[in-house]
Parts: sequence; structure tokens; C-alpha cells
Amino acid sequence: MNAQNAIANLPEEDDLFRLLRQLDRAPDASQRATAQALGISLGRLNTCVRAAAEAGFVKITDRSGPDRRQRFTYALTTRGAAEKNRLTDRFLARKFAEYDALHAELTGTTSGLAPLKYRSKLMHNNLAPISELYVSYDSAQKLKVEAGELTSHDLTPRQICDLELLMNGGFSPLKGFLSEEDYNGVVEDMRLADGTLWPMPITLDVSEKFAETVEVGQDIALRDQEGVILATMTITDKWVPNKAHEARKVFGADDQAHPAVNYLHNTAGSVYLGGPITGIQQPVHYDFRGRRDTPNELRAYFRKLGWRKVVAFQTRNPLHRAHQELTFRAAKESQANLLIHPVVGLTKPGDVDHFTRVRCYEAVLDKYPGSTTTMSLLNLAMRMAGPREAVWHGLIRKNHGCTHFIVGRDHAGPGKNSDGEEFYGPYDAQDLFREHQAEMGIEMVDFKHMVYVQERAQYEPADEINDRDTVTVLNISGTELRRRLSEGLEIPEWFSFPEVVRELRRTKPPRSQQGFTVFFTGFSGSGKSTIANALMVKLMEMGGRPVTLLDGDIVRKNLSSELGFSKEHRDLNIRRIGYVASEITKNGGIAICAPIAPYATTRRAVREDIEAYGAFVEVHVATSIEECERRDRKGLYKLARAGKIKEFTGISDPYDVPQDPELRVETENVDVDNCAHQVILKLESMGLIAAV
Ligand code: PPS
Repeated sequence: MNAQNAIANLPEEDDLFRLLRQLDRAPDASQRATAQALGISLGRLNTCVRAAAEAGFVKITDRSGPDRRQRFTYALTTRGAAEKNRLTDRFLARKFAEYDALHAELTGTTSGLAPLKYRSKLMHNNLAPISELYVSYDSAQKLKVEAGELTSHDLTPRQICDLELLMNGGFSPLKGFLSEEDYNGVVEDMRLADGTLWPMPITLDVSEKFAETVEVGQDIALRDQEGVILATMTITDKWVPNKAHEARKVFGADDQAHPAVNYLHNTAGSVYLGGPITGIQQPVHYDFRGRRDTPNELRAYFRKLGWRKVVAFQTRNPLHRAHQELTFRAAKESQANLLIHPVVGLTKPGDVDHFTRVRCYEAVLDKYPGSTTTMSLLNLAMRMAGPREAVWHGLIRKNHGCTHFIVGRDHAGPGKNSDGEEFYGPYDAQDLFREHQAEMGIEMVDFKHMVYVQERAQYEPADEINDRDTVTVLNISGTELRRRLSEGLEIPEWFSFPEVVRELRRTKPPRSQQGFTVFFTGFSGSGKSTIANALMVKLMEMGGRPVTLLDGDIVRKNLSSELGFSKEHRDLNIRRIGYVASEITKNGGIAICAPIAPYATTRRAVREDIEAYGAFVEVHVATSIEECERRDRKGLYKLARAGKIKEFTGISDPYDVPQDPELRVETENVDVDNCAHQVILKLESMGLIAAV
């Protein structure tokens, strides 16, 4: 039978949906049991199943038993599972239509439900279950084995976040990674090809190399970073996107100061694959398991507690008193219960890590009146796309059973662009949300900017204070809070809760107790190692933190013994030193590095790695090449001049003089002890060591 015939022989859409659903529920049932469950004859079942098998939706296995009627078992294929997901909404929409007709016939009135056109999108109220893309547990076990044979794509951390929300209905109505047509619609005017509002491209980006190994029509397995198969995808589209265009339309500018644009150009693969997803299992989380809920789990929770109106608060920052006050007010104003819904997937680089934040949220949760508020963690990968992101967040919260959503000033703002200006206007997000909220089916609650009024000892919305001249209005900005934390200064109780401040201090102790790296750079023989050794001894004398010296020579003997002095090898050597130093810094120690490190770009990369965990202090040992050559303690310059050592820094290889190091030391007229002391003074002025 050819494919055309197979389609022609398929049962009616409803019957096909029922068949696929039954096979998903009970993949191992006998023909007889399956026919009975569907209320059809064995003969009819046989015809339907054969047609479905020809279309690639069902796999028939011959058990070779004696009883002809028990001989075959039927199981859903990856494609069949995707087809079942696709037919679910259409089936429900038809059922609504039937209900409408019946209602009209019996009562003479319409049912009052939404017009048919929107039925499949609107039929879920906030409490009814939402469709997921998972197959049943039994089918998953079978599909997992089948998927083991497929070409695999290893998902990136961001793709795992996206996949989780696709599979659990958080990104409903999406049924997979966007096809090219949907992608174009979303990029151009925030709409899928069928007109549905969807502001964010959810794409499966892969490398060119991987893209060459797959083709349209093929099924692939999607694996997490440990190799566990989470889902399969039928590739319907494969294309090379215009990333600059995507950046301009979706993020407002093709400017890499925007974290998502930077990701798009420098991390995302250059080819996109699109197609429906079949969910096999949820990504595994080992942390805060009890605090993570799927949309259906939250809907069931609201149903159980009778929460008909729920206002969601999105956040990627720790909550302080102002947030507590504003969320509480938002709930009161909209007469709703409150869901604190923090993002724990991927947020803006440099944010407080989610482990610390969740401990802070738990402390704040106790401050709300009992049974009005709950908290759930959302494994979303944010894009910081401001207005589009706000609309996206609203749709996601609607899928999680919420009726209201708080949108603040500069919602999901990415910070400043490369000209030092804001990417979006402060109220662009609220405007875009307002424009679409009727269609979205979730209402916006504007974020009020709350300030503390000292005389009345309470928080009030800034625009509602009419006696500003006679009262003292207090506020602490994010930057000021970070400064106080890093310098170990007081954080007043009117600003935050003691439990929250304690958590933040535990994670970010004052700078004088954090790890840091001192990175010496300069020519061979400039005096780096000697000063580094003197510094190490001085720091050890002070005590308090472990000190590790990663000297150029020592590293080359141990960590990098196979490397030479080509640019590639030098870079590798410095990246290794940087990695070890970043681990030391992360764990609260002091790393002193003393390589030549001749390339500015590599030094910058190491700085970025380390600054994620603590300070990076670059010290340029500025001894001139003439002086180094004159000293020539190891006799290397002589050999280099004679051409016996090739690629020798300063003689036959380049050295980029640091433009803006934290410190530059001269060694020609200054002794070693004094140079080391200059470093100590620098560390002290940066707050990295307590005053000596
Ligand atoms: S790099 O460029 O940072 O990877 O170099 P580094 O690991 O610091 O190693 C420098 C030490 O190796 C010796 N040496 C050379 N230096 C520069 N160029 C060439 N071609 C070369 N060949 C060997 C030299 O002794 C350096 O030691 P220091 O401690 O800097 O004097």
C-alpha cells in the first residue's frame, strides 16, 4: 500500500484519535481488549490499525502465539504520539460544538461558551487540566527503547528548560519546537502561522555539523546532558535563520550587549530544526523537588483550595519588604490569591543564584497571611526581552492556572545597550501587555513602585504619597544593596527581613572574606614569580584564607607539560590557569597566578571566568624588555637572540601591554618587598583584605 492509500484508509479523525489514545493508554493490551475498549469489532480494529501502521502511527508486533486473535500487539510510534497530541485539541473543539448544538436543541439558547473559532484555544479555564505532550508511562517505556536507535541531539541547558515547558503545557499551545512558518510569524508579528499570539521564538538550534546528519521527515531523540532521552521529535523543518533580523525584531536591536542577542550569535547553533515533540520523561531536578509544579499540578492545587482568582508574581531577584508589600496589595486589589512564581531556570548573568534565592523566598513566605499565598518554582530560561517577554510570561502564567499577572516597571529588562542607553522604555512592557491582554485571557496588575515612609513606618505606592514635603521617604536601590552586602555594611530592617539578609550574607560574605585572584603578567624574567612569592608569604602571614601560587614555570611542569609556545598552546595554558584560579576563588581561597599571558583577549576571558565568583586583580609587572634581557637570569634571551629558542616573547613573539590593569608595578628602581607591598595596599583599597 502506498502512503496515499494509507492516508485514505485511515479512520475518521475522531476514530483515529480514540485509537491512538487507547494504544497510548494500554500499549500491551490484546486486540480483543483494545477492540472492546473502543467498542468496535475485531475486523474493524484490524483495518484501522493496519491503516494507522501504514501511516507510521502504530507499530505492530507479532507475538507468534497459537491464538490468532491474541497474536499481535499494537504500540504507538513516536509519530503516532505526536499525531495524538495534535488531534487532542481538535477532538475537544468538536466535542464543544456538539455540546453547543445539543444545548441549543434542548433549551433553545446557546451554551454561552466562546465562539467555535477560538474554542480550542480558550476551552481551558484556569482550573481545567491543560494538554501535555507526554505519552503514558507504559508507552514511554516502549518509546524509550525505540528512541535508543535514533540519531540523538544533546540538549543545551536552555533547550532543556524550553523542552520541559513544552512537554508539560507551560508553553501551550505549542506542540514542539517552532516550524519555519511559525518562526517567521513569531519573529515578524508575534503570531504563529494560524494567527495565535506567541511572542517568543522557541527554536531548536543545532550545529551545522549535526544538521548535516539529519533530514526533514526523520525522528530524532532529544537527550539531557547525562544522555537520558527526554523526548523525540519528528523533524518537519530545517533552516538557517537570519539571526541579525531575529535580534532586531524580537529583542529590539542587533546589539550583543543584550544577553539574548549575545546568546543568539555566540552560543546558539546556526541551523534551526522544527517539529512536534513526544514527551517521554520530565527533566530530572534534584533540588527543591517539592517546590516545583507543572501547570497541571498547580491547576489541581488551585482547584483543591478553591482558588478561582490567582495573581502571579514573576521574579528573578530576592524578595524584600517592598516586594512583599506590593504583591500583597496586588492580591488584595484583584481579590485574588497570590502565587510567587520565581524563575529558577536561566536568568540574567550575574543574578543571585537560585539556591540562595529559594531559601530567601521560603523565609518571606511566612510573612504572608496564612493560606492566601503559595510559591512554586518555574524552570524557565528567560531571554530578558522586556515587552515581548512580559507577554510571554503572561501566557505561561495563564497556562499555570493564573488569572492575573503583575507587570512592573522595566519588566525583564536586559540593562543598558552598547551606547549606554536602555533597550526598552520603562513602561513598554505594560503597554504591550495591555494591548493583548483580552486575547491572552489573563489580566495585568500594574506594579506599583513602593517606598518606605519613615513617619508612618510603612510602605506606600510612591505615586500615592501626597505629603512628600513633610515625610521622609526611604528607598535602597539594587546597586546600593550590593554595595552594602559587599562591604559588610548594615542593611536596615525596614528594607528587608533579617532572615533574607542572613541568607544573602551567607552566600555573599563581605569582600574581605571572599575568594579572589591576583594575576601577574609580564615578560619572562620581569620579576613576576619573585613578587608573587613575596605576596604569597605576606598573605599567609595574615592568615584567614588558603593561598595557592600558580607560577608559570610550575604550571608548565604540572598542568601543561605537553604544551609549547604557539599562540594556541599559550592560550590553552592560560585558560587552564584561569580555570583552576576560578575554582579556588569560588571556594573562598586566594589564587596568585604568574604566567607571561601575552594575549589581551585571553586575559579578558580569564577575567570573565573568575569575576563570576570573586575579584580579579590584574598586576602588570612592567619591566622593560631591555632590562629583562640585561638580567637574563635563565640565559634564555641569549638563546632567543641566537635563534635557538623560537617564538620567544618580546624577542620573536608578541606581548599585548595591559591597557587597564588594576595595578602596574615598576621593578627597575624598586625592590621586591616594596612591589609586593604595593599589591597588598591595592588589595586593601579594594576591600579584599582587612586593613593592615
Ligand atoms: S605563557 O605565554 O604565559 O603561556 O608562558 P608561561 O607559561 O608563563 O611560560 C613562560 C616560561 O617559559 C620559559 N620559556 C618561554 N617564555 C616565553 N617564550 C618562549 N618561547 C619560551 N620558551 C620557554 C620562560 O622561562 C618563562 O618563564 P618566566 O617565569 O616567565 O621567566
